Parts: sequence; C-alpha cells; structure tokens
Amino acid sequence: MPTDMNTYKIAVLAGDGIGPEVMEEALRVLDAVESKFGFKTERTECFVGGAGIDNCGKALPAETLAACEAADAILFGSVGGPKWDSLPPDERPERGALLPLRKHFSLFANLRPGICLPELVDASPVKNALIPGGFDILCVRELTGGMYFGEPKFYGERDGEVIGLDTLIYKKSEVERIARVAFEAARGRNKRLCSVDKANVLASSVMWRDVMNAIAAEYPDVELTHMYVDNAAMQLVRNPKQFDVMVTENTFGDILTDEMAIVCGSLGMLPSASLSHGSGTFFGLYEPSGGSAPDIAGKGIANPIAQILSMGMLLRYTCKETAAADAVDTAVRKVIAAGYRTGDLATGAEGEIRVGTRGMGDAIIAAL
Ligand code: IPM
Ligand code: MG
Repeated sequence: MPTDMNTYKIAVLAGDGIGPEVMEEALRVLDAVESKFGFKTERTECFVGGAGIDNCGKALPAETLAACEAADAILFGSVGGPKWDSLPPDERPERGALLPLRKHFSLFANLRPGICLPELVDASPVKNALIPGGFDILCVRELTGGMYFGEPKFYGERDGEVIGLDTLIYKKSEVERIARVAFEAARGRNKRLCSVDKANVLASSVMWRDVMNAIAAEYPDVELTHMYVDNAAMQLVRNPKQFDVMVTENTFGDILTDEMAIVCGSLGMLPSASLSHGSGTFFGLYEPSGGSAPDIAGKGIANPIAQILSMGMLLRYTCKETAAADAVDTAVRKVIAAGYRTGDLATGAEGEIRVGTRGMGDAIIAAL
C-alpha cells in the first residue's frame, strides 16, 4: 500500500542486456511526469539476474528481494544473456530471478496489451490489408501456475532411462481468479473474451474451459468464446482484429504473447503488468514483454518504449495516477505519429525520423 498518497516506493531492477539503457529512459520520463503531475517516487535500484549473479552471487539477491518487499511496486528491465547460459537452469537469471519474484509476490495476473498503432501497420509482418487502422488486443496470461511451477519437475534417470518431466496442473481456484481478472478487463473494453486452451487433448484445459463457462454467468454483459491454442496462434497472424481480450494459461500465454508482440510491429513496443489481485491491486511487477536482447545491448539503439509503457502501467495500476499514465501513453502515440522510429520500427518510409534509445526518450519527454 503506498505510504503517502503522493509518494510511491519503487524497486528498480534494470537487470541485463538492454535493461539498464531502456530503464534509464523510463526513469527520465518518470522524472518528467512526476514534476508535471505533482507526485513523487522513492526509487531503490537493485541488482537482479546476471547482474545479481555477478555482483552478489545470486540472480535474486536477498537485499533485492528485501527492497521489493519494502516497495509499492517493482519496475523490472530484463534478465539473461549468453554470459550466464552455461549455469545450471535453476541458477540462470530467468529461472533464478523472474520466476521466484512472480511466485513470491503471487503475481498471477499478467496483463499484456498488444497494440498495433495505425502508423506501425507497415512494421507488422501481417499484410496491411488484413489490419487496416491497426488493432488493440489485451492478453491476460496466468503467471504462477501450469508447467512453470507444477510438481513433479524432474530431469534425470528413472528406470534405466533418462527422462525430462514437467507437470501441467491448475487448481480450480487459480482458474477462477484469472477468469475474473479477464472478465473484468473485457468489461472495461469491448466486452469480448476469448479463452484459449487445448481442451481437445488436455485434462487441465477441460477444467479450465468448465471454469471459464461457470464464471461467465457472473458477467452476462461479456461475450465468452473458446479457441484451441493452435488455432489461436494461427488466428493471431491471420486476423488479429477479431480479438478483444484473450485469457490463457501460463505456457500458452508465454508463446502467444511473443507472437502477438511481433504481429504488433515489434517486441520493443509491448509493456506488461504482473499483478497479485487483479486490476484493483496496488502491488505489481512491471516489465517489457520482450527480452534482454543481448545482441544489441550497450549500443544505444534499443527501443525504450516497452519499458516506458511498463512504467506507465505502474502509474496506472499501482499508483492510480491515471492522468499521468494517460499522458505517458499519449506521448508515445504522439512520437510514433510524428515519425520517430528506433531501428526495430523503421521501414524506410518517407518522413521517418531515425533515433536511438536516448533520442526516443527525449522525443517522448518533449511530447509530454
Ligand atoms: C516472459 C519470458 C519469461 C517467461 C522467461 C524469461 C522466464 O519469456 O516473461 O514471457 O517465460 O515467462
Ligand atoms: Mg516469454
């Protein structure tokens, strides 16, 4: 719970790869909105991921976790890179930092807005004719269940044969709570919810579908449909405009949101919020949907927009600073409309203004 109505404590975990450079821009934009909208943040910068391993010997150092516990929200960059890929899976930045944070804070509701702005239709790999005017999807991904955390989990020898084992398990209560988050979100948008599962094969999906149908009775104003995940993957590239809100389990959501991101034009545009009590919550972890992009790290060319929009989601969901959050979203739309493009968004079209990470941050601050 924020301590003072106008001061929010943020744990800043920039991490690895492009994390620190895009985080720097998000914090500069945050400085600008703070002075414009009259609130304050107290920020604690902490090591996480590979930076945690290098500086403190662990992907999620105890002092980082303590700072997160003391904070109202976590602004997260990205973790991982080739340097740490040879570590045992449990110690690697992704499994050693991000997943424990999600579990520790019960961040079960992952909201990933997939917005293809009208000006970025050309950057999408989908044919322009299929997405006139762009589109706007919200994917609600369950984040603390399914195969990521299911037990048993095992890799080793059993009965004279080496096996790898993961468990896809959901409790009814876990499906109910994510269903409610998704229905609430749909209610606040175009009132259409598509639940994605694999009910033609998986028992967990049959249960998922039953629960979705049961919760639908509480939301008669929302239209619920179901889609198999293989079909959903295809429909996202065939006709993304058909979707309003999608809801799905952890692993399906991981895969579909990367697909959704690129269909929107670039992985560098998509923010996310991971919340512990649906959209009414204060606490949350906010991070770009893309990864640490080690190939372009340190070059000053990464697109900071996903990080900036993640900071905007933090203002919206944790701080309830709606006007400031709207201003961030609007500023991003303005600079895109004005033609500013980092390399990932550039198509070579006339009128494009090519910028790097800092240049994009500057343009967004100016547009505020
Ligand atoms: C994501 C990422 C993570 C996930 C990885 C880094 C563990 O891909 O947030 O989508 O699989 O959830
Ligand atoms: Mg992913």
